[in-house]
This record gives sequence, C-alpha cells and structure tokens, in this order.
Amino acid sequence: MPDRILITMDDLSTAVPLNAAFEGAGFSTAMFSALDDAARTVRRENPDVVVLTGAVHEPHALHLAALARDHEISTLALLEPTDSERAERVGRLGVTETMMKPVAPDDAVATARRLIERRRLQERTGIIGESAPIQEVLVKIEQMAPVSSTVLIQGESGTGKELVAKAIHELSPRRGKPFIAVNCAALPDTLLESELFGHEKGAFTGAAERRLGRFELADTGTIFLDEIGEISASTQVKLLRVLESRTFFRVGGTQPIKVDVRVVAATNRTLRDAVSLGEFRDDLYYRLNVLNIYLPPLRERREDIPLLVRRFIRELAREHDRTFRGITPEAMQRLVTASWPGNVRQLRNLIESMVVLAPGQEIRASDIPPDILDGPSSLLPVRLPSTTPGREAGAPEFEFILRSLLDLKLQVEELRRRLDEHPQRVQVIELADHTSVADVLTDGDGADGQSEVLYRSGMTMADVEKATIEAALREYRGNRRRAAEVLGIGERTLYRKIKAYHLE
Ligand SMILES: Nc1ncnc2c1ncn2[C@@H]1O[C@H](COP(=O)(O)OP(=O)(O)OP(=O)(O)O)[C@@H](O)[C@H]1O
Ligand SMILES: [Mg+2]
Repeated sequence: MPDRILITMDDLSTAVPLNAAFEGAGFSTAMFSALDDAARTVRRENPDVVVLTGAVHEPHALHLAALARDHEISTLALLEPTDSERAERVGRLGVTETMMKPVAPDDAVATARRLIERRRLQERTGIIGESAPIQEVLVKIEQMAPVSSTVLIQGESGTGKELVAKAIHELSPRRGKPFIAVNCAALPDTLLESELFGHEKGAFTGAAERRLGRFELADTGTIFLDEIGEISASTQVKLLRVLESRTFFRVGGTQPIKVDVRVVAATNRTLRDAVSLGEFRDDLYYRLNVLNIYLPPLRERREDIPLLVRRFIRELAREHDRTFRGITPEAMQRLVTASWPGNVRQLRNLIESMVVLAPGQEIRASDIPPDILDGPSSLLPVRLPSTTPGREAGAPEFEFILRSLLDLKLQVEELRRRLDEHPQRVQVIELADHTSVADVLTDGDGADGQSEVLYRSGMTMADVEKATIEAALREYRGNRRRAAEVLGIGERTLYRKIKAYHLE
C-alpha cells in the first residue's frame, strides 16, 4: 500500500504542485480544508504524514497537528519566510518538522520520506515520543548508527538509555552481530574486570578454566557498558586503554587481545560533574563522550505521556490477556501531572499493575495508587533554564507561574481531547476563580443550547477573542450594540476589533 499524505489546502499555490509531486512519487494523497472535521479526516485518511501548506498558526491547522501527534502521525509544516526562528516554531506548533517557503515540491517529498522512515524507526526500536527532545534523539540515533564511534548516553534512571543503545546497534551495520550488555554497577571491581576482559585458567582462586570476557564476546558487535559512572579508578584505566587501542589482556594473561567492538556507554550520573569531583578520569570521559545522547526526564516531556500510556495499555493488556477499553480522561490527566521520578520505567510498571489489578475495563483515577496521585504540586524540582531571572531555588512567584502554566496546558489538552470526542459542540463556560475546566466538564456537560465558541488547542488569546466576537455577532444577528453589551465591552471597542479581525 502506498504511503499516504494529507495535505492542507490553506495555500493552494503550494498545495496543488505538492499534491502532484507526491502522486508522481508514488504516494497516495488527500486534501484537507479548513472546513473539514480534523478528527474525522485523520481517522478516515489515516495518513503517514500531514503537510500543513500554510496558515500554520490558525486554529484548524494547530488542531490538526495536535491530533496527528496524538495518533503518532508526523507533521511537516511549511512556513512563510516571515515566520521567525525555526526551532521555536517547531516547539510551539507541535509539528515534527518545518521547511521554509518557497519549498521545491521534490524537497518536501524527500522530507516526508525521511519522516516516514523515522516513524518506521520508532516502530522498529519501540521508542515512543513526539516531543522535540525525543525527535532529536531519533535523529541522533539515525546519524550515529552507521559509524563505529563511541556513544555516551546520559539520562536519569528509566529514561530509556538501554532502549536507545539497542536501537543504535540494531540500526548499525553490526546488527545481527552480538549486542553484549554489562551492568558495571552490579559487580565488585575485580569481578567486573574479569567479566569485561575474561581471565586465564588459574588467574585467581576459582579460575578453573579460561573464560572469555564480554569484550571478546562482543567482537564484531556492540558492547553496552551500563552505569559506567560507577566503575573504579583501576577499571577506568583499563577501559581507557581498550578505548584507545582496542586491545586488552585477559586477567592473568600476557597476550594482548584485539577486538573490533563498538562501545556504547550509559550513566544516570552527570559524568562531567563526576569528572569535576575527581571521581572520573577526564581522559576516559572524553574518550567515551565522542558522540553524546541526552535523554531528558519524563517530567520535561509530558506531552509524550498520553502516547506512552495508551501504547503501554494496549501492549500490556494484550500481554496479560485482558480486554481493556483504555483510561478515563481524569485518570490520564493525573498521570500527565505526576512527577515520575522513575521516568518511563515507573510509568510502564504502574500501567502494568493497573492493567492487571484494575477491577473494570478502564483505568480510572481511583485505580491510581495515592503515591502517584500527587498532582502538579509535586512537580518540583522544576529545572529552570540558567538564563531565567529569579531562578534561585524556591523563587515562589516563578514556581507558581510555572505550575499555573502547566495546569492551564493540561486543561487545554483536556478540552482538546473532549473536542475530538464531540467536535461539534464545545460551550465556552464561565469559570469561577479556582475552578478547573476539567471539574466543570465532569459535572455534566452544562449545555444550554446557546451559541457556542469552538476552542482548539494552540489558539491564542486573539483567536479566542475573535471566535467569541464572531459567536456573539452570530447570536445577535449582527446587532453590534447588543453584542458589545453582552461581551462587556464598549461599542467603539467592538467596532475596532471587528475591523482588526476582518469580521466585517
Ligand atoms: N521512549 C520510550 N518509549 C517506549 N518505552 C520506553 C521509552 N523510554 C523507556 N521506555 C521503557 O521504559 C523502561 C526503562 O527503559 P530503559 O531500561 O531503557 O531505561 P534506562 O535509562 O536504561 O534506566 P536505568 O538507568 O534505570 O537502567 C523499559 O521498559 C523501556 O522499554
Ligand atoms: Mg538501563
């Protein structure tokens, strides 16, 4: 079946030649207009890539991109030259990739191909995540896999370091050859050395036979040195020698042994700090850190949590032979806000226990153990960028703002999800102070059949204002005086806004 591309019609002069180019290159294509229902279109077309040809900041495009992300579909946004900094846009738009217009159709086709390959890579490696940091990690894996240089993977416990190490091996020309993992923290020093380098018969008491070490076993393949930050000074020296010359001696041996091994190392310590503390040799650090991958903690890429949760539920329900419908929105929201000190591993383990233990066919908030249900208040420590003013630990206003922003983001996501379920009608409901949107929504739907304003993820305040004014004008059949009254603004202000938003 040909790969499928969904192209938005916002910029027809781009969309039309693009469509022809994709078809010419053997893809099957479909068009999306601003008037189409995004959720239904995505379900029906099931595209491999969504291409936003223009109006990328408009609500319908942002909504489409967000939906695509939730369905693990890549999005390519074509930006106007007037759009500012690319990286920032990618983050804000929630798209997978951007290109600056004018875009040669063939280049867009090539980029879409790359995105499809990256998606396949995710399927092959099991690395889930649409967040910018995970996409970056995938790009790095693609770049690093073909060569044999040493890779250092850093990240907190449970962030997926081993998964990434295996992915590098599987994508490298060494696939099919051994992948040997050694947990350097699990063994005392002397045992670790004989484990890594092997030993000769009689090298020490109990060494009844010659034994090959992991480096020899990994010959022509990859050795994964996990918890590298924990190795002793003497093993550090030996490892340095192997990295420099690819030769070593078995314990008790006199013959140098040469191997062709790719080294991938991982640590949950910040190795540079260990170097500054004098606990890790700097020369070894530089030898290991030829190529570097950092896996951020889950709390710094919360947008990946719903994807991980859904995927884990599906996988684990199948594994444990349980029919499961999924998870309630409330439960999902709690999982998204939890602090996850044990990162993806902790999340996976929790889902596994809930899939096994939950009494119903759905994970509900009440199924989540209380120690996880600590909500946004336990998000700390929040890692602030070093350039942020007022970053002293505990700057309370700053913390408060961060938490409020996060809360708001979650509420918006909740709205978006509900919008997908009932795309036709979302009421704008006035909230008393301190009321959360989710609370109101779970209290029955509050519908009164009145005029409605469609909120979509990514809308700016101006978008919301524009939509509200449009709704009020519709409701009062263009009577501006009434509309202004209801909106609580002066008639002159309303006129100004109607002009500014081109609502005439
Ligand atoms: N991005 C991801 N997508 C899917 N599964 C993931 C992802 N990251 C981690 N996991 C899963 O989480 C679990 C922990 O991952 P992994 O063992 O690779 O972490 P780690 O960083 O090596 O942890 P540690 O430092 O404790 O050894 C595994 O079951 C892994 O499959
Ligand atoms: Mg590990």
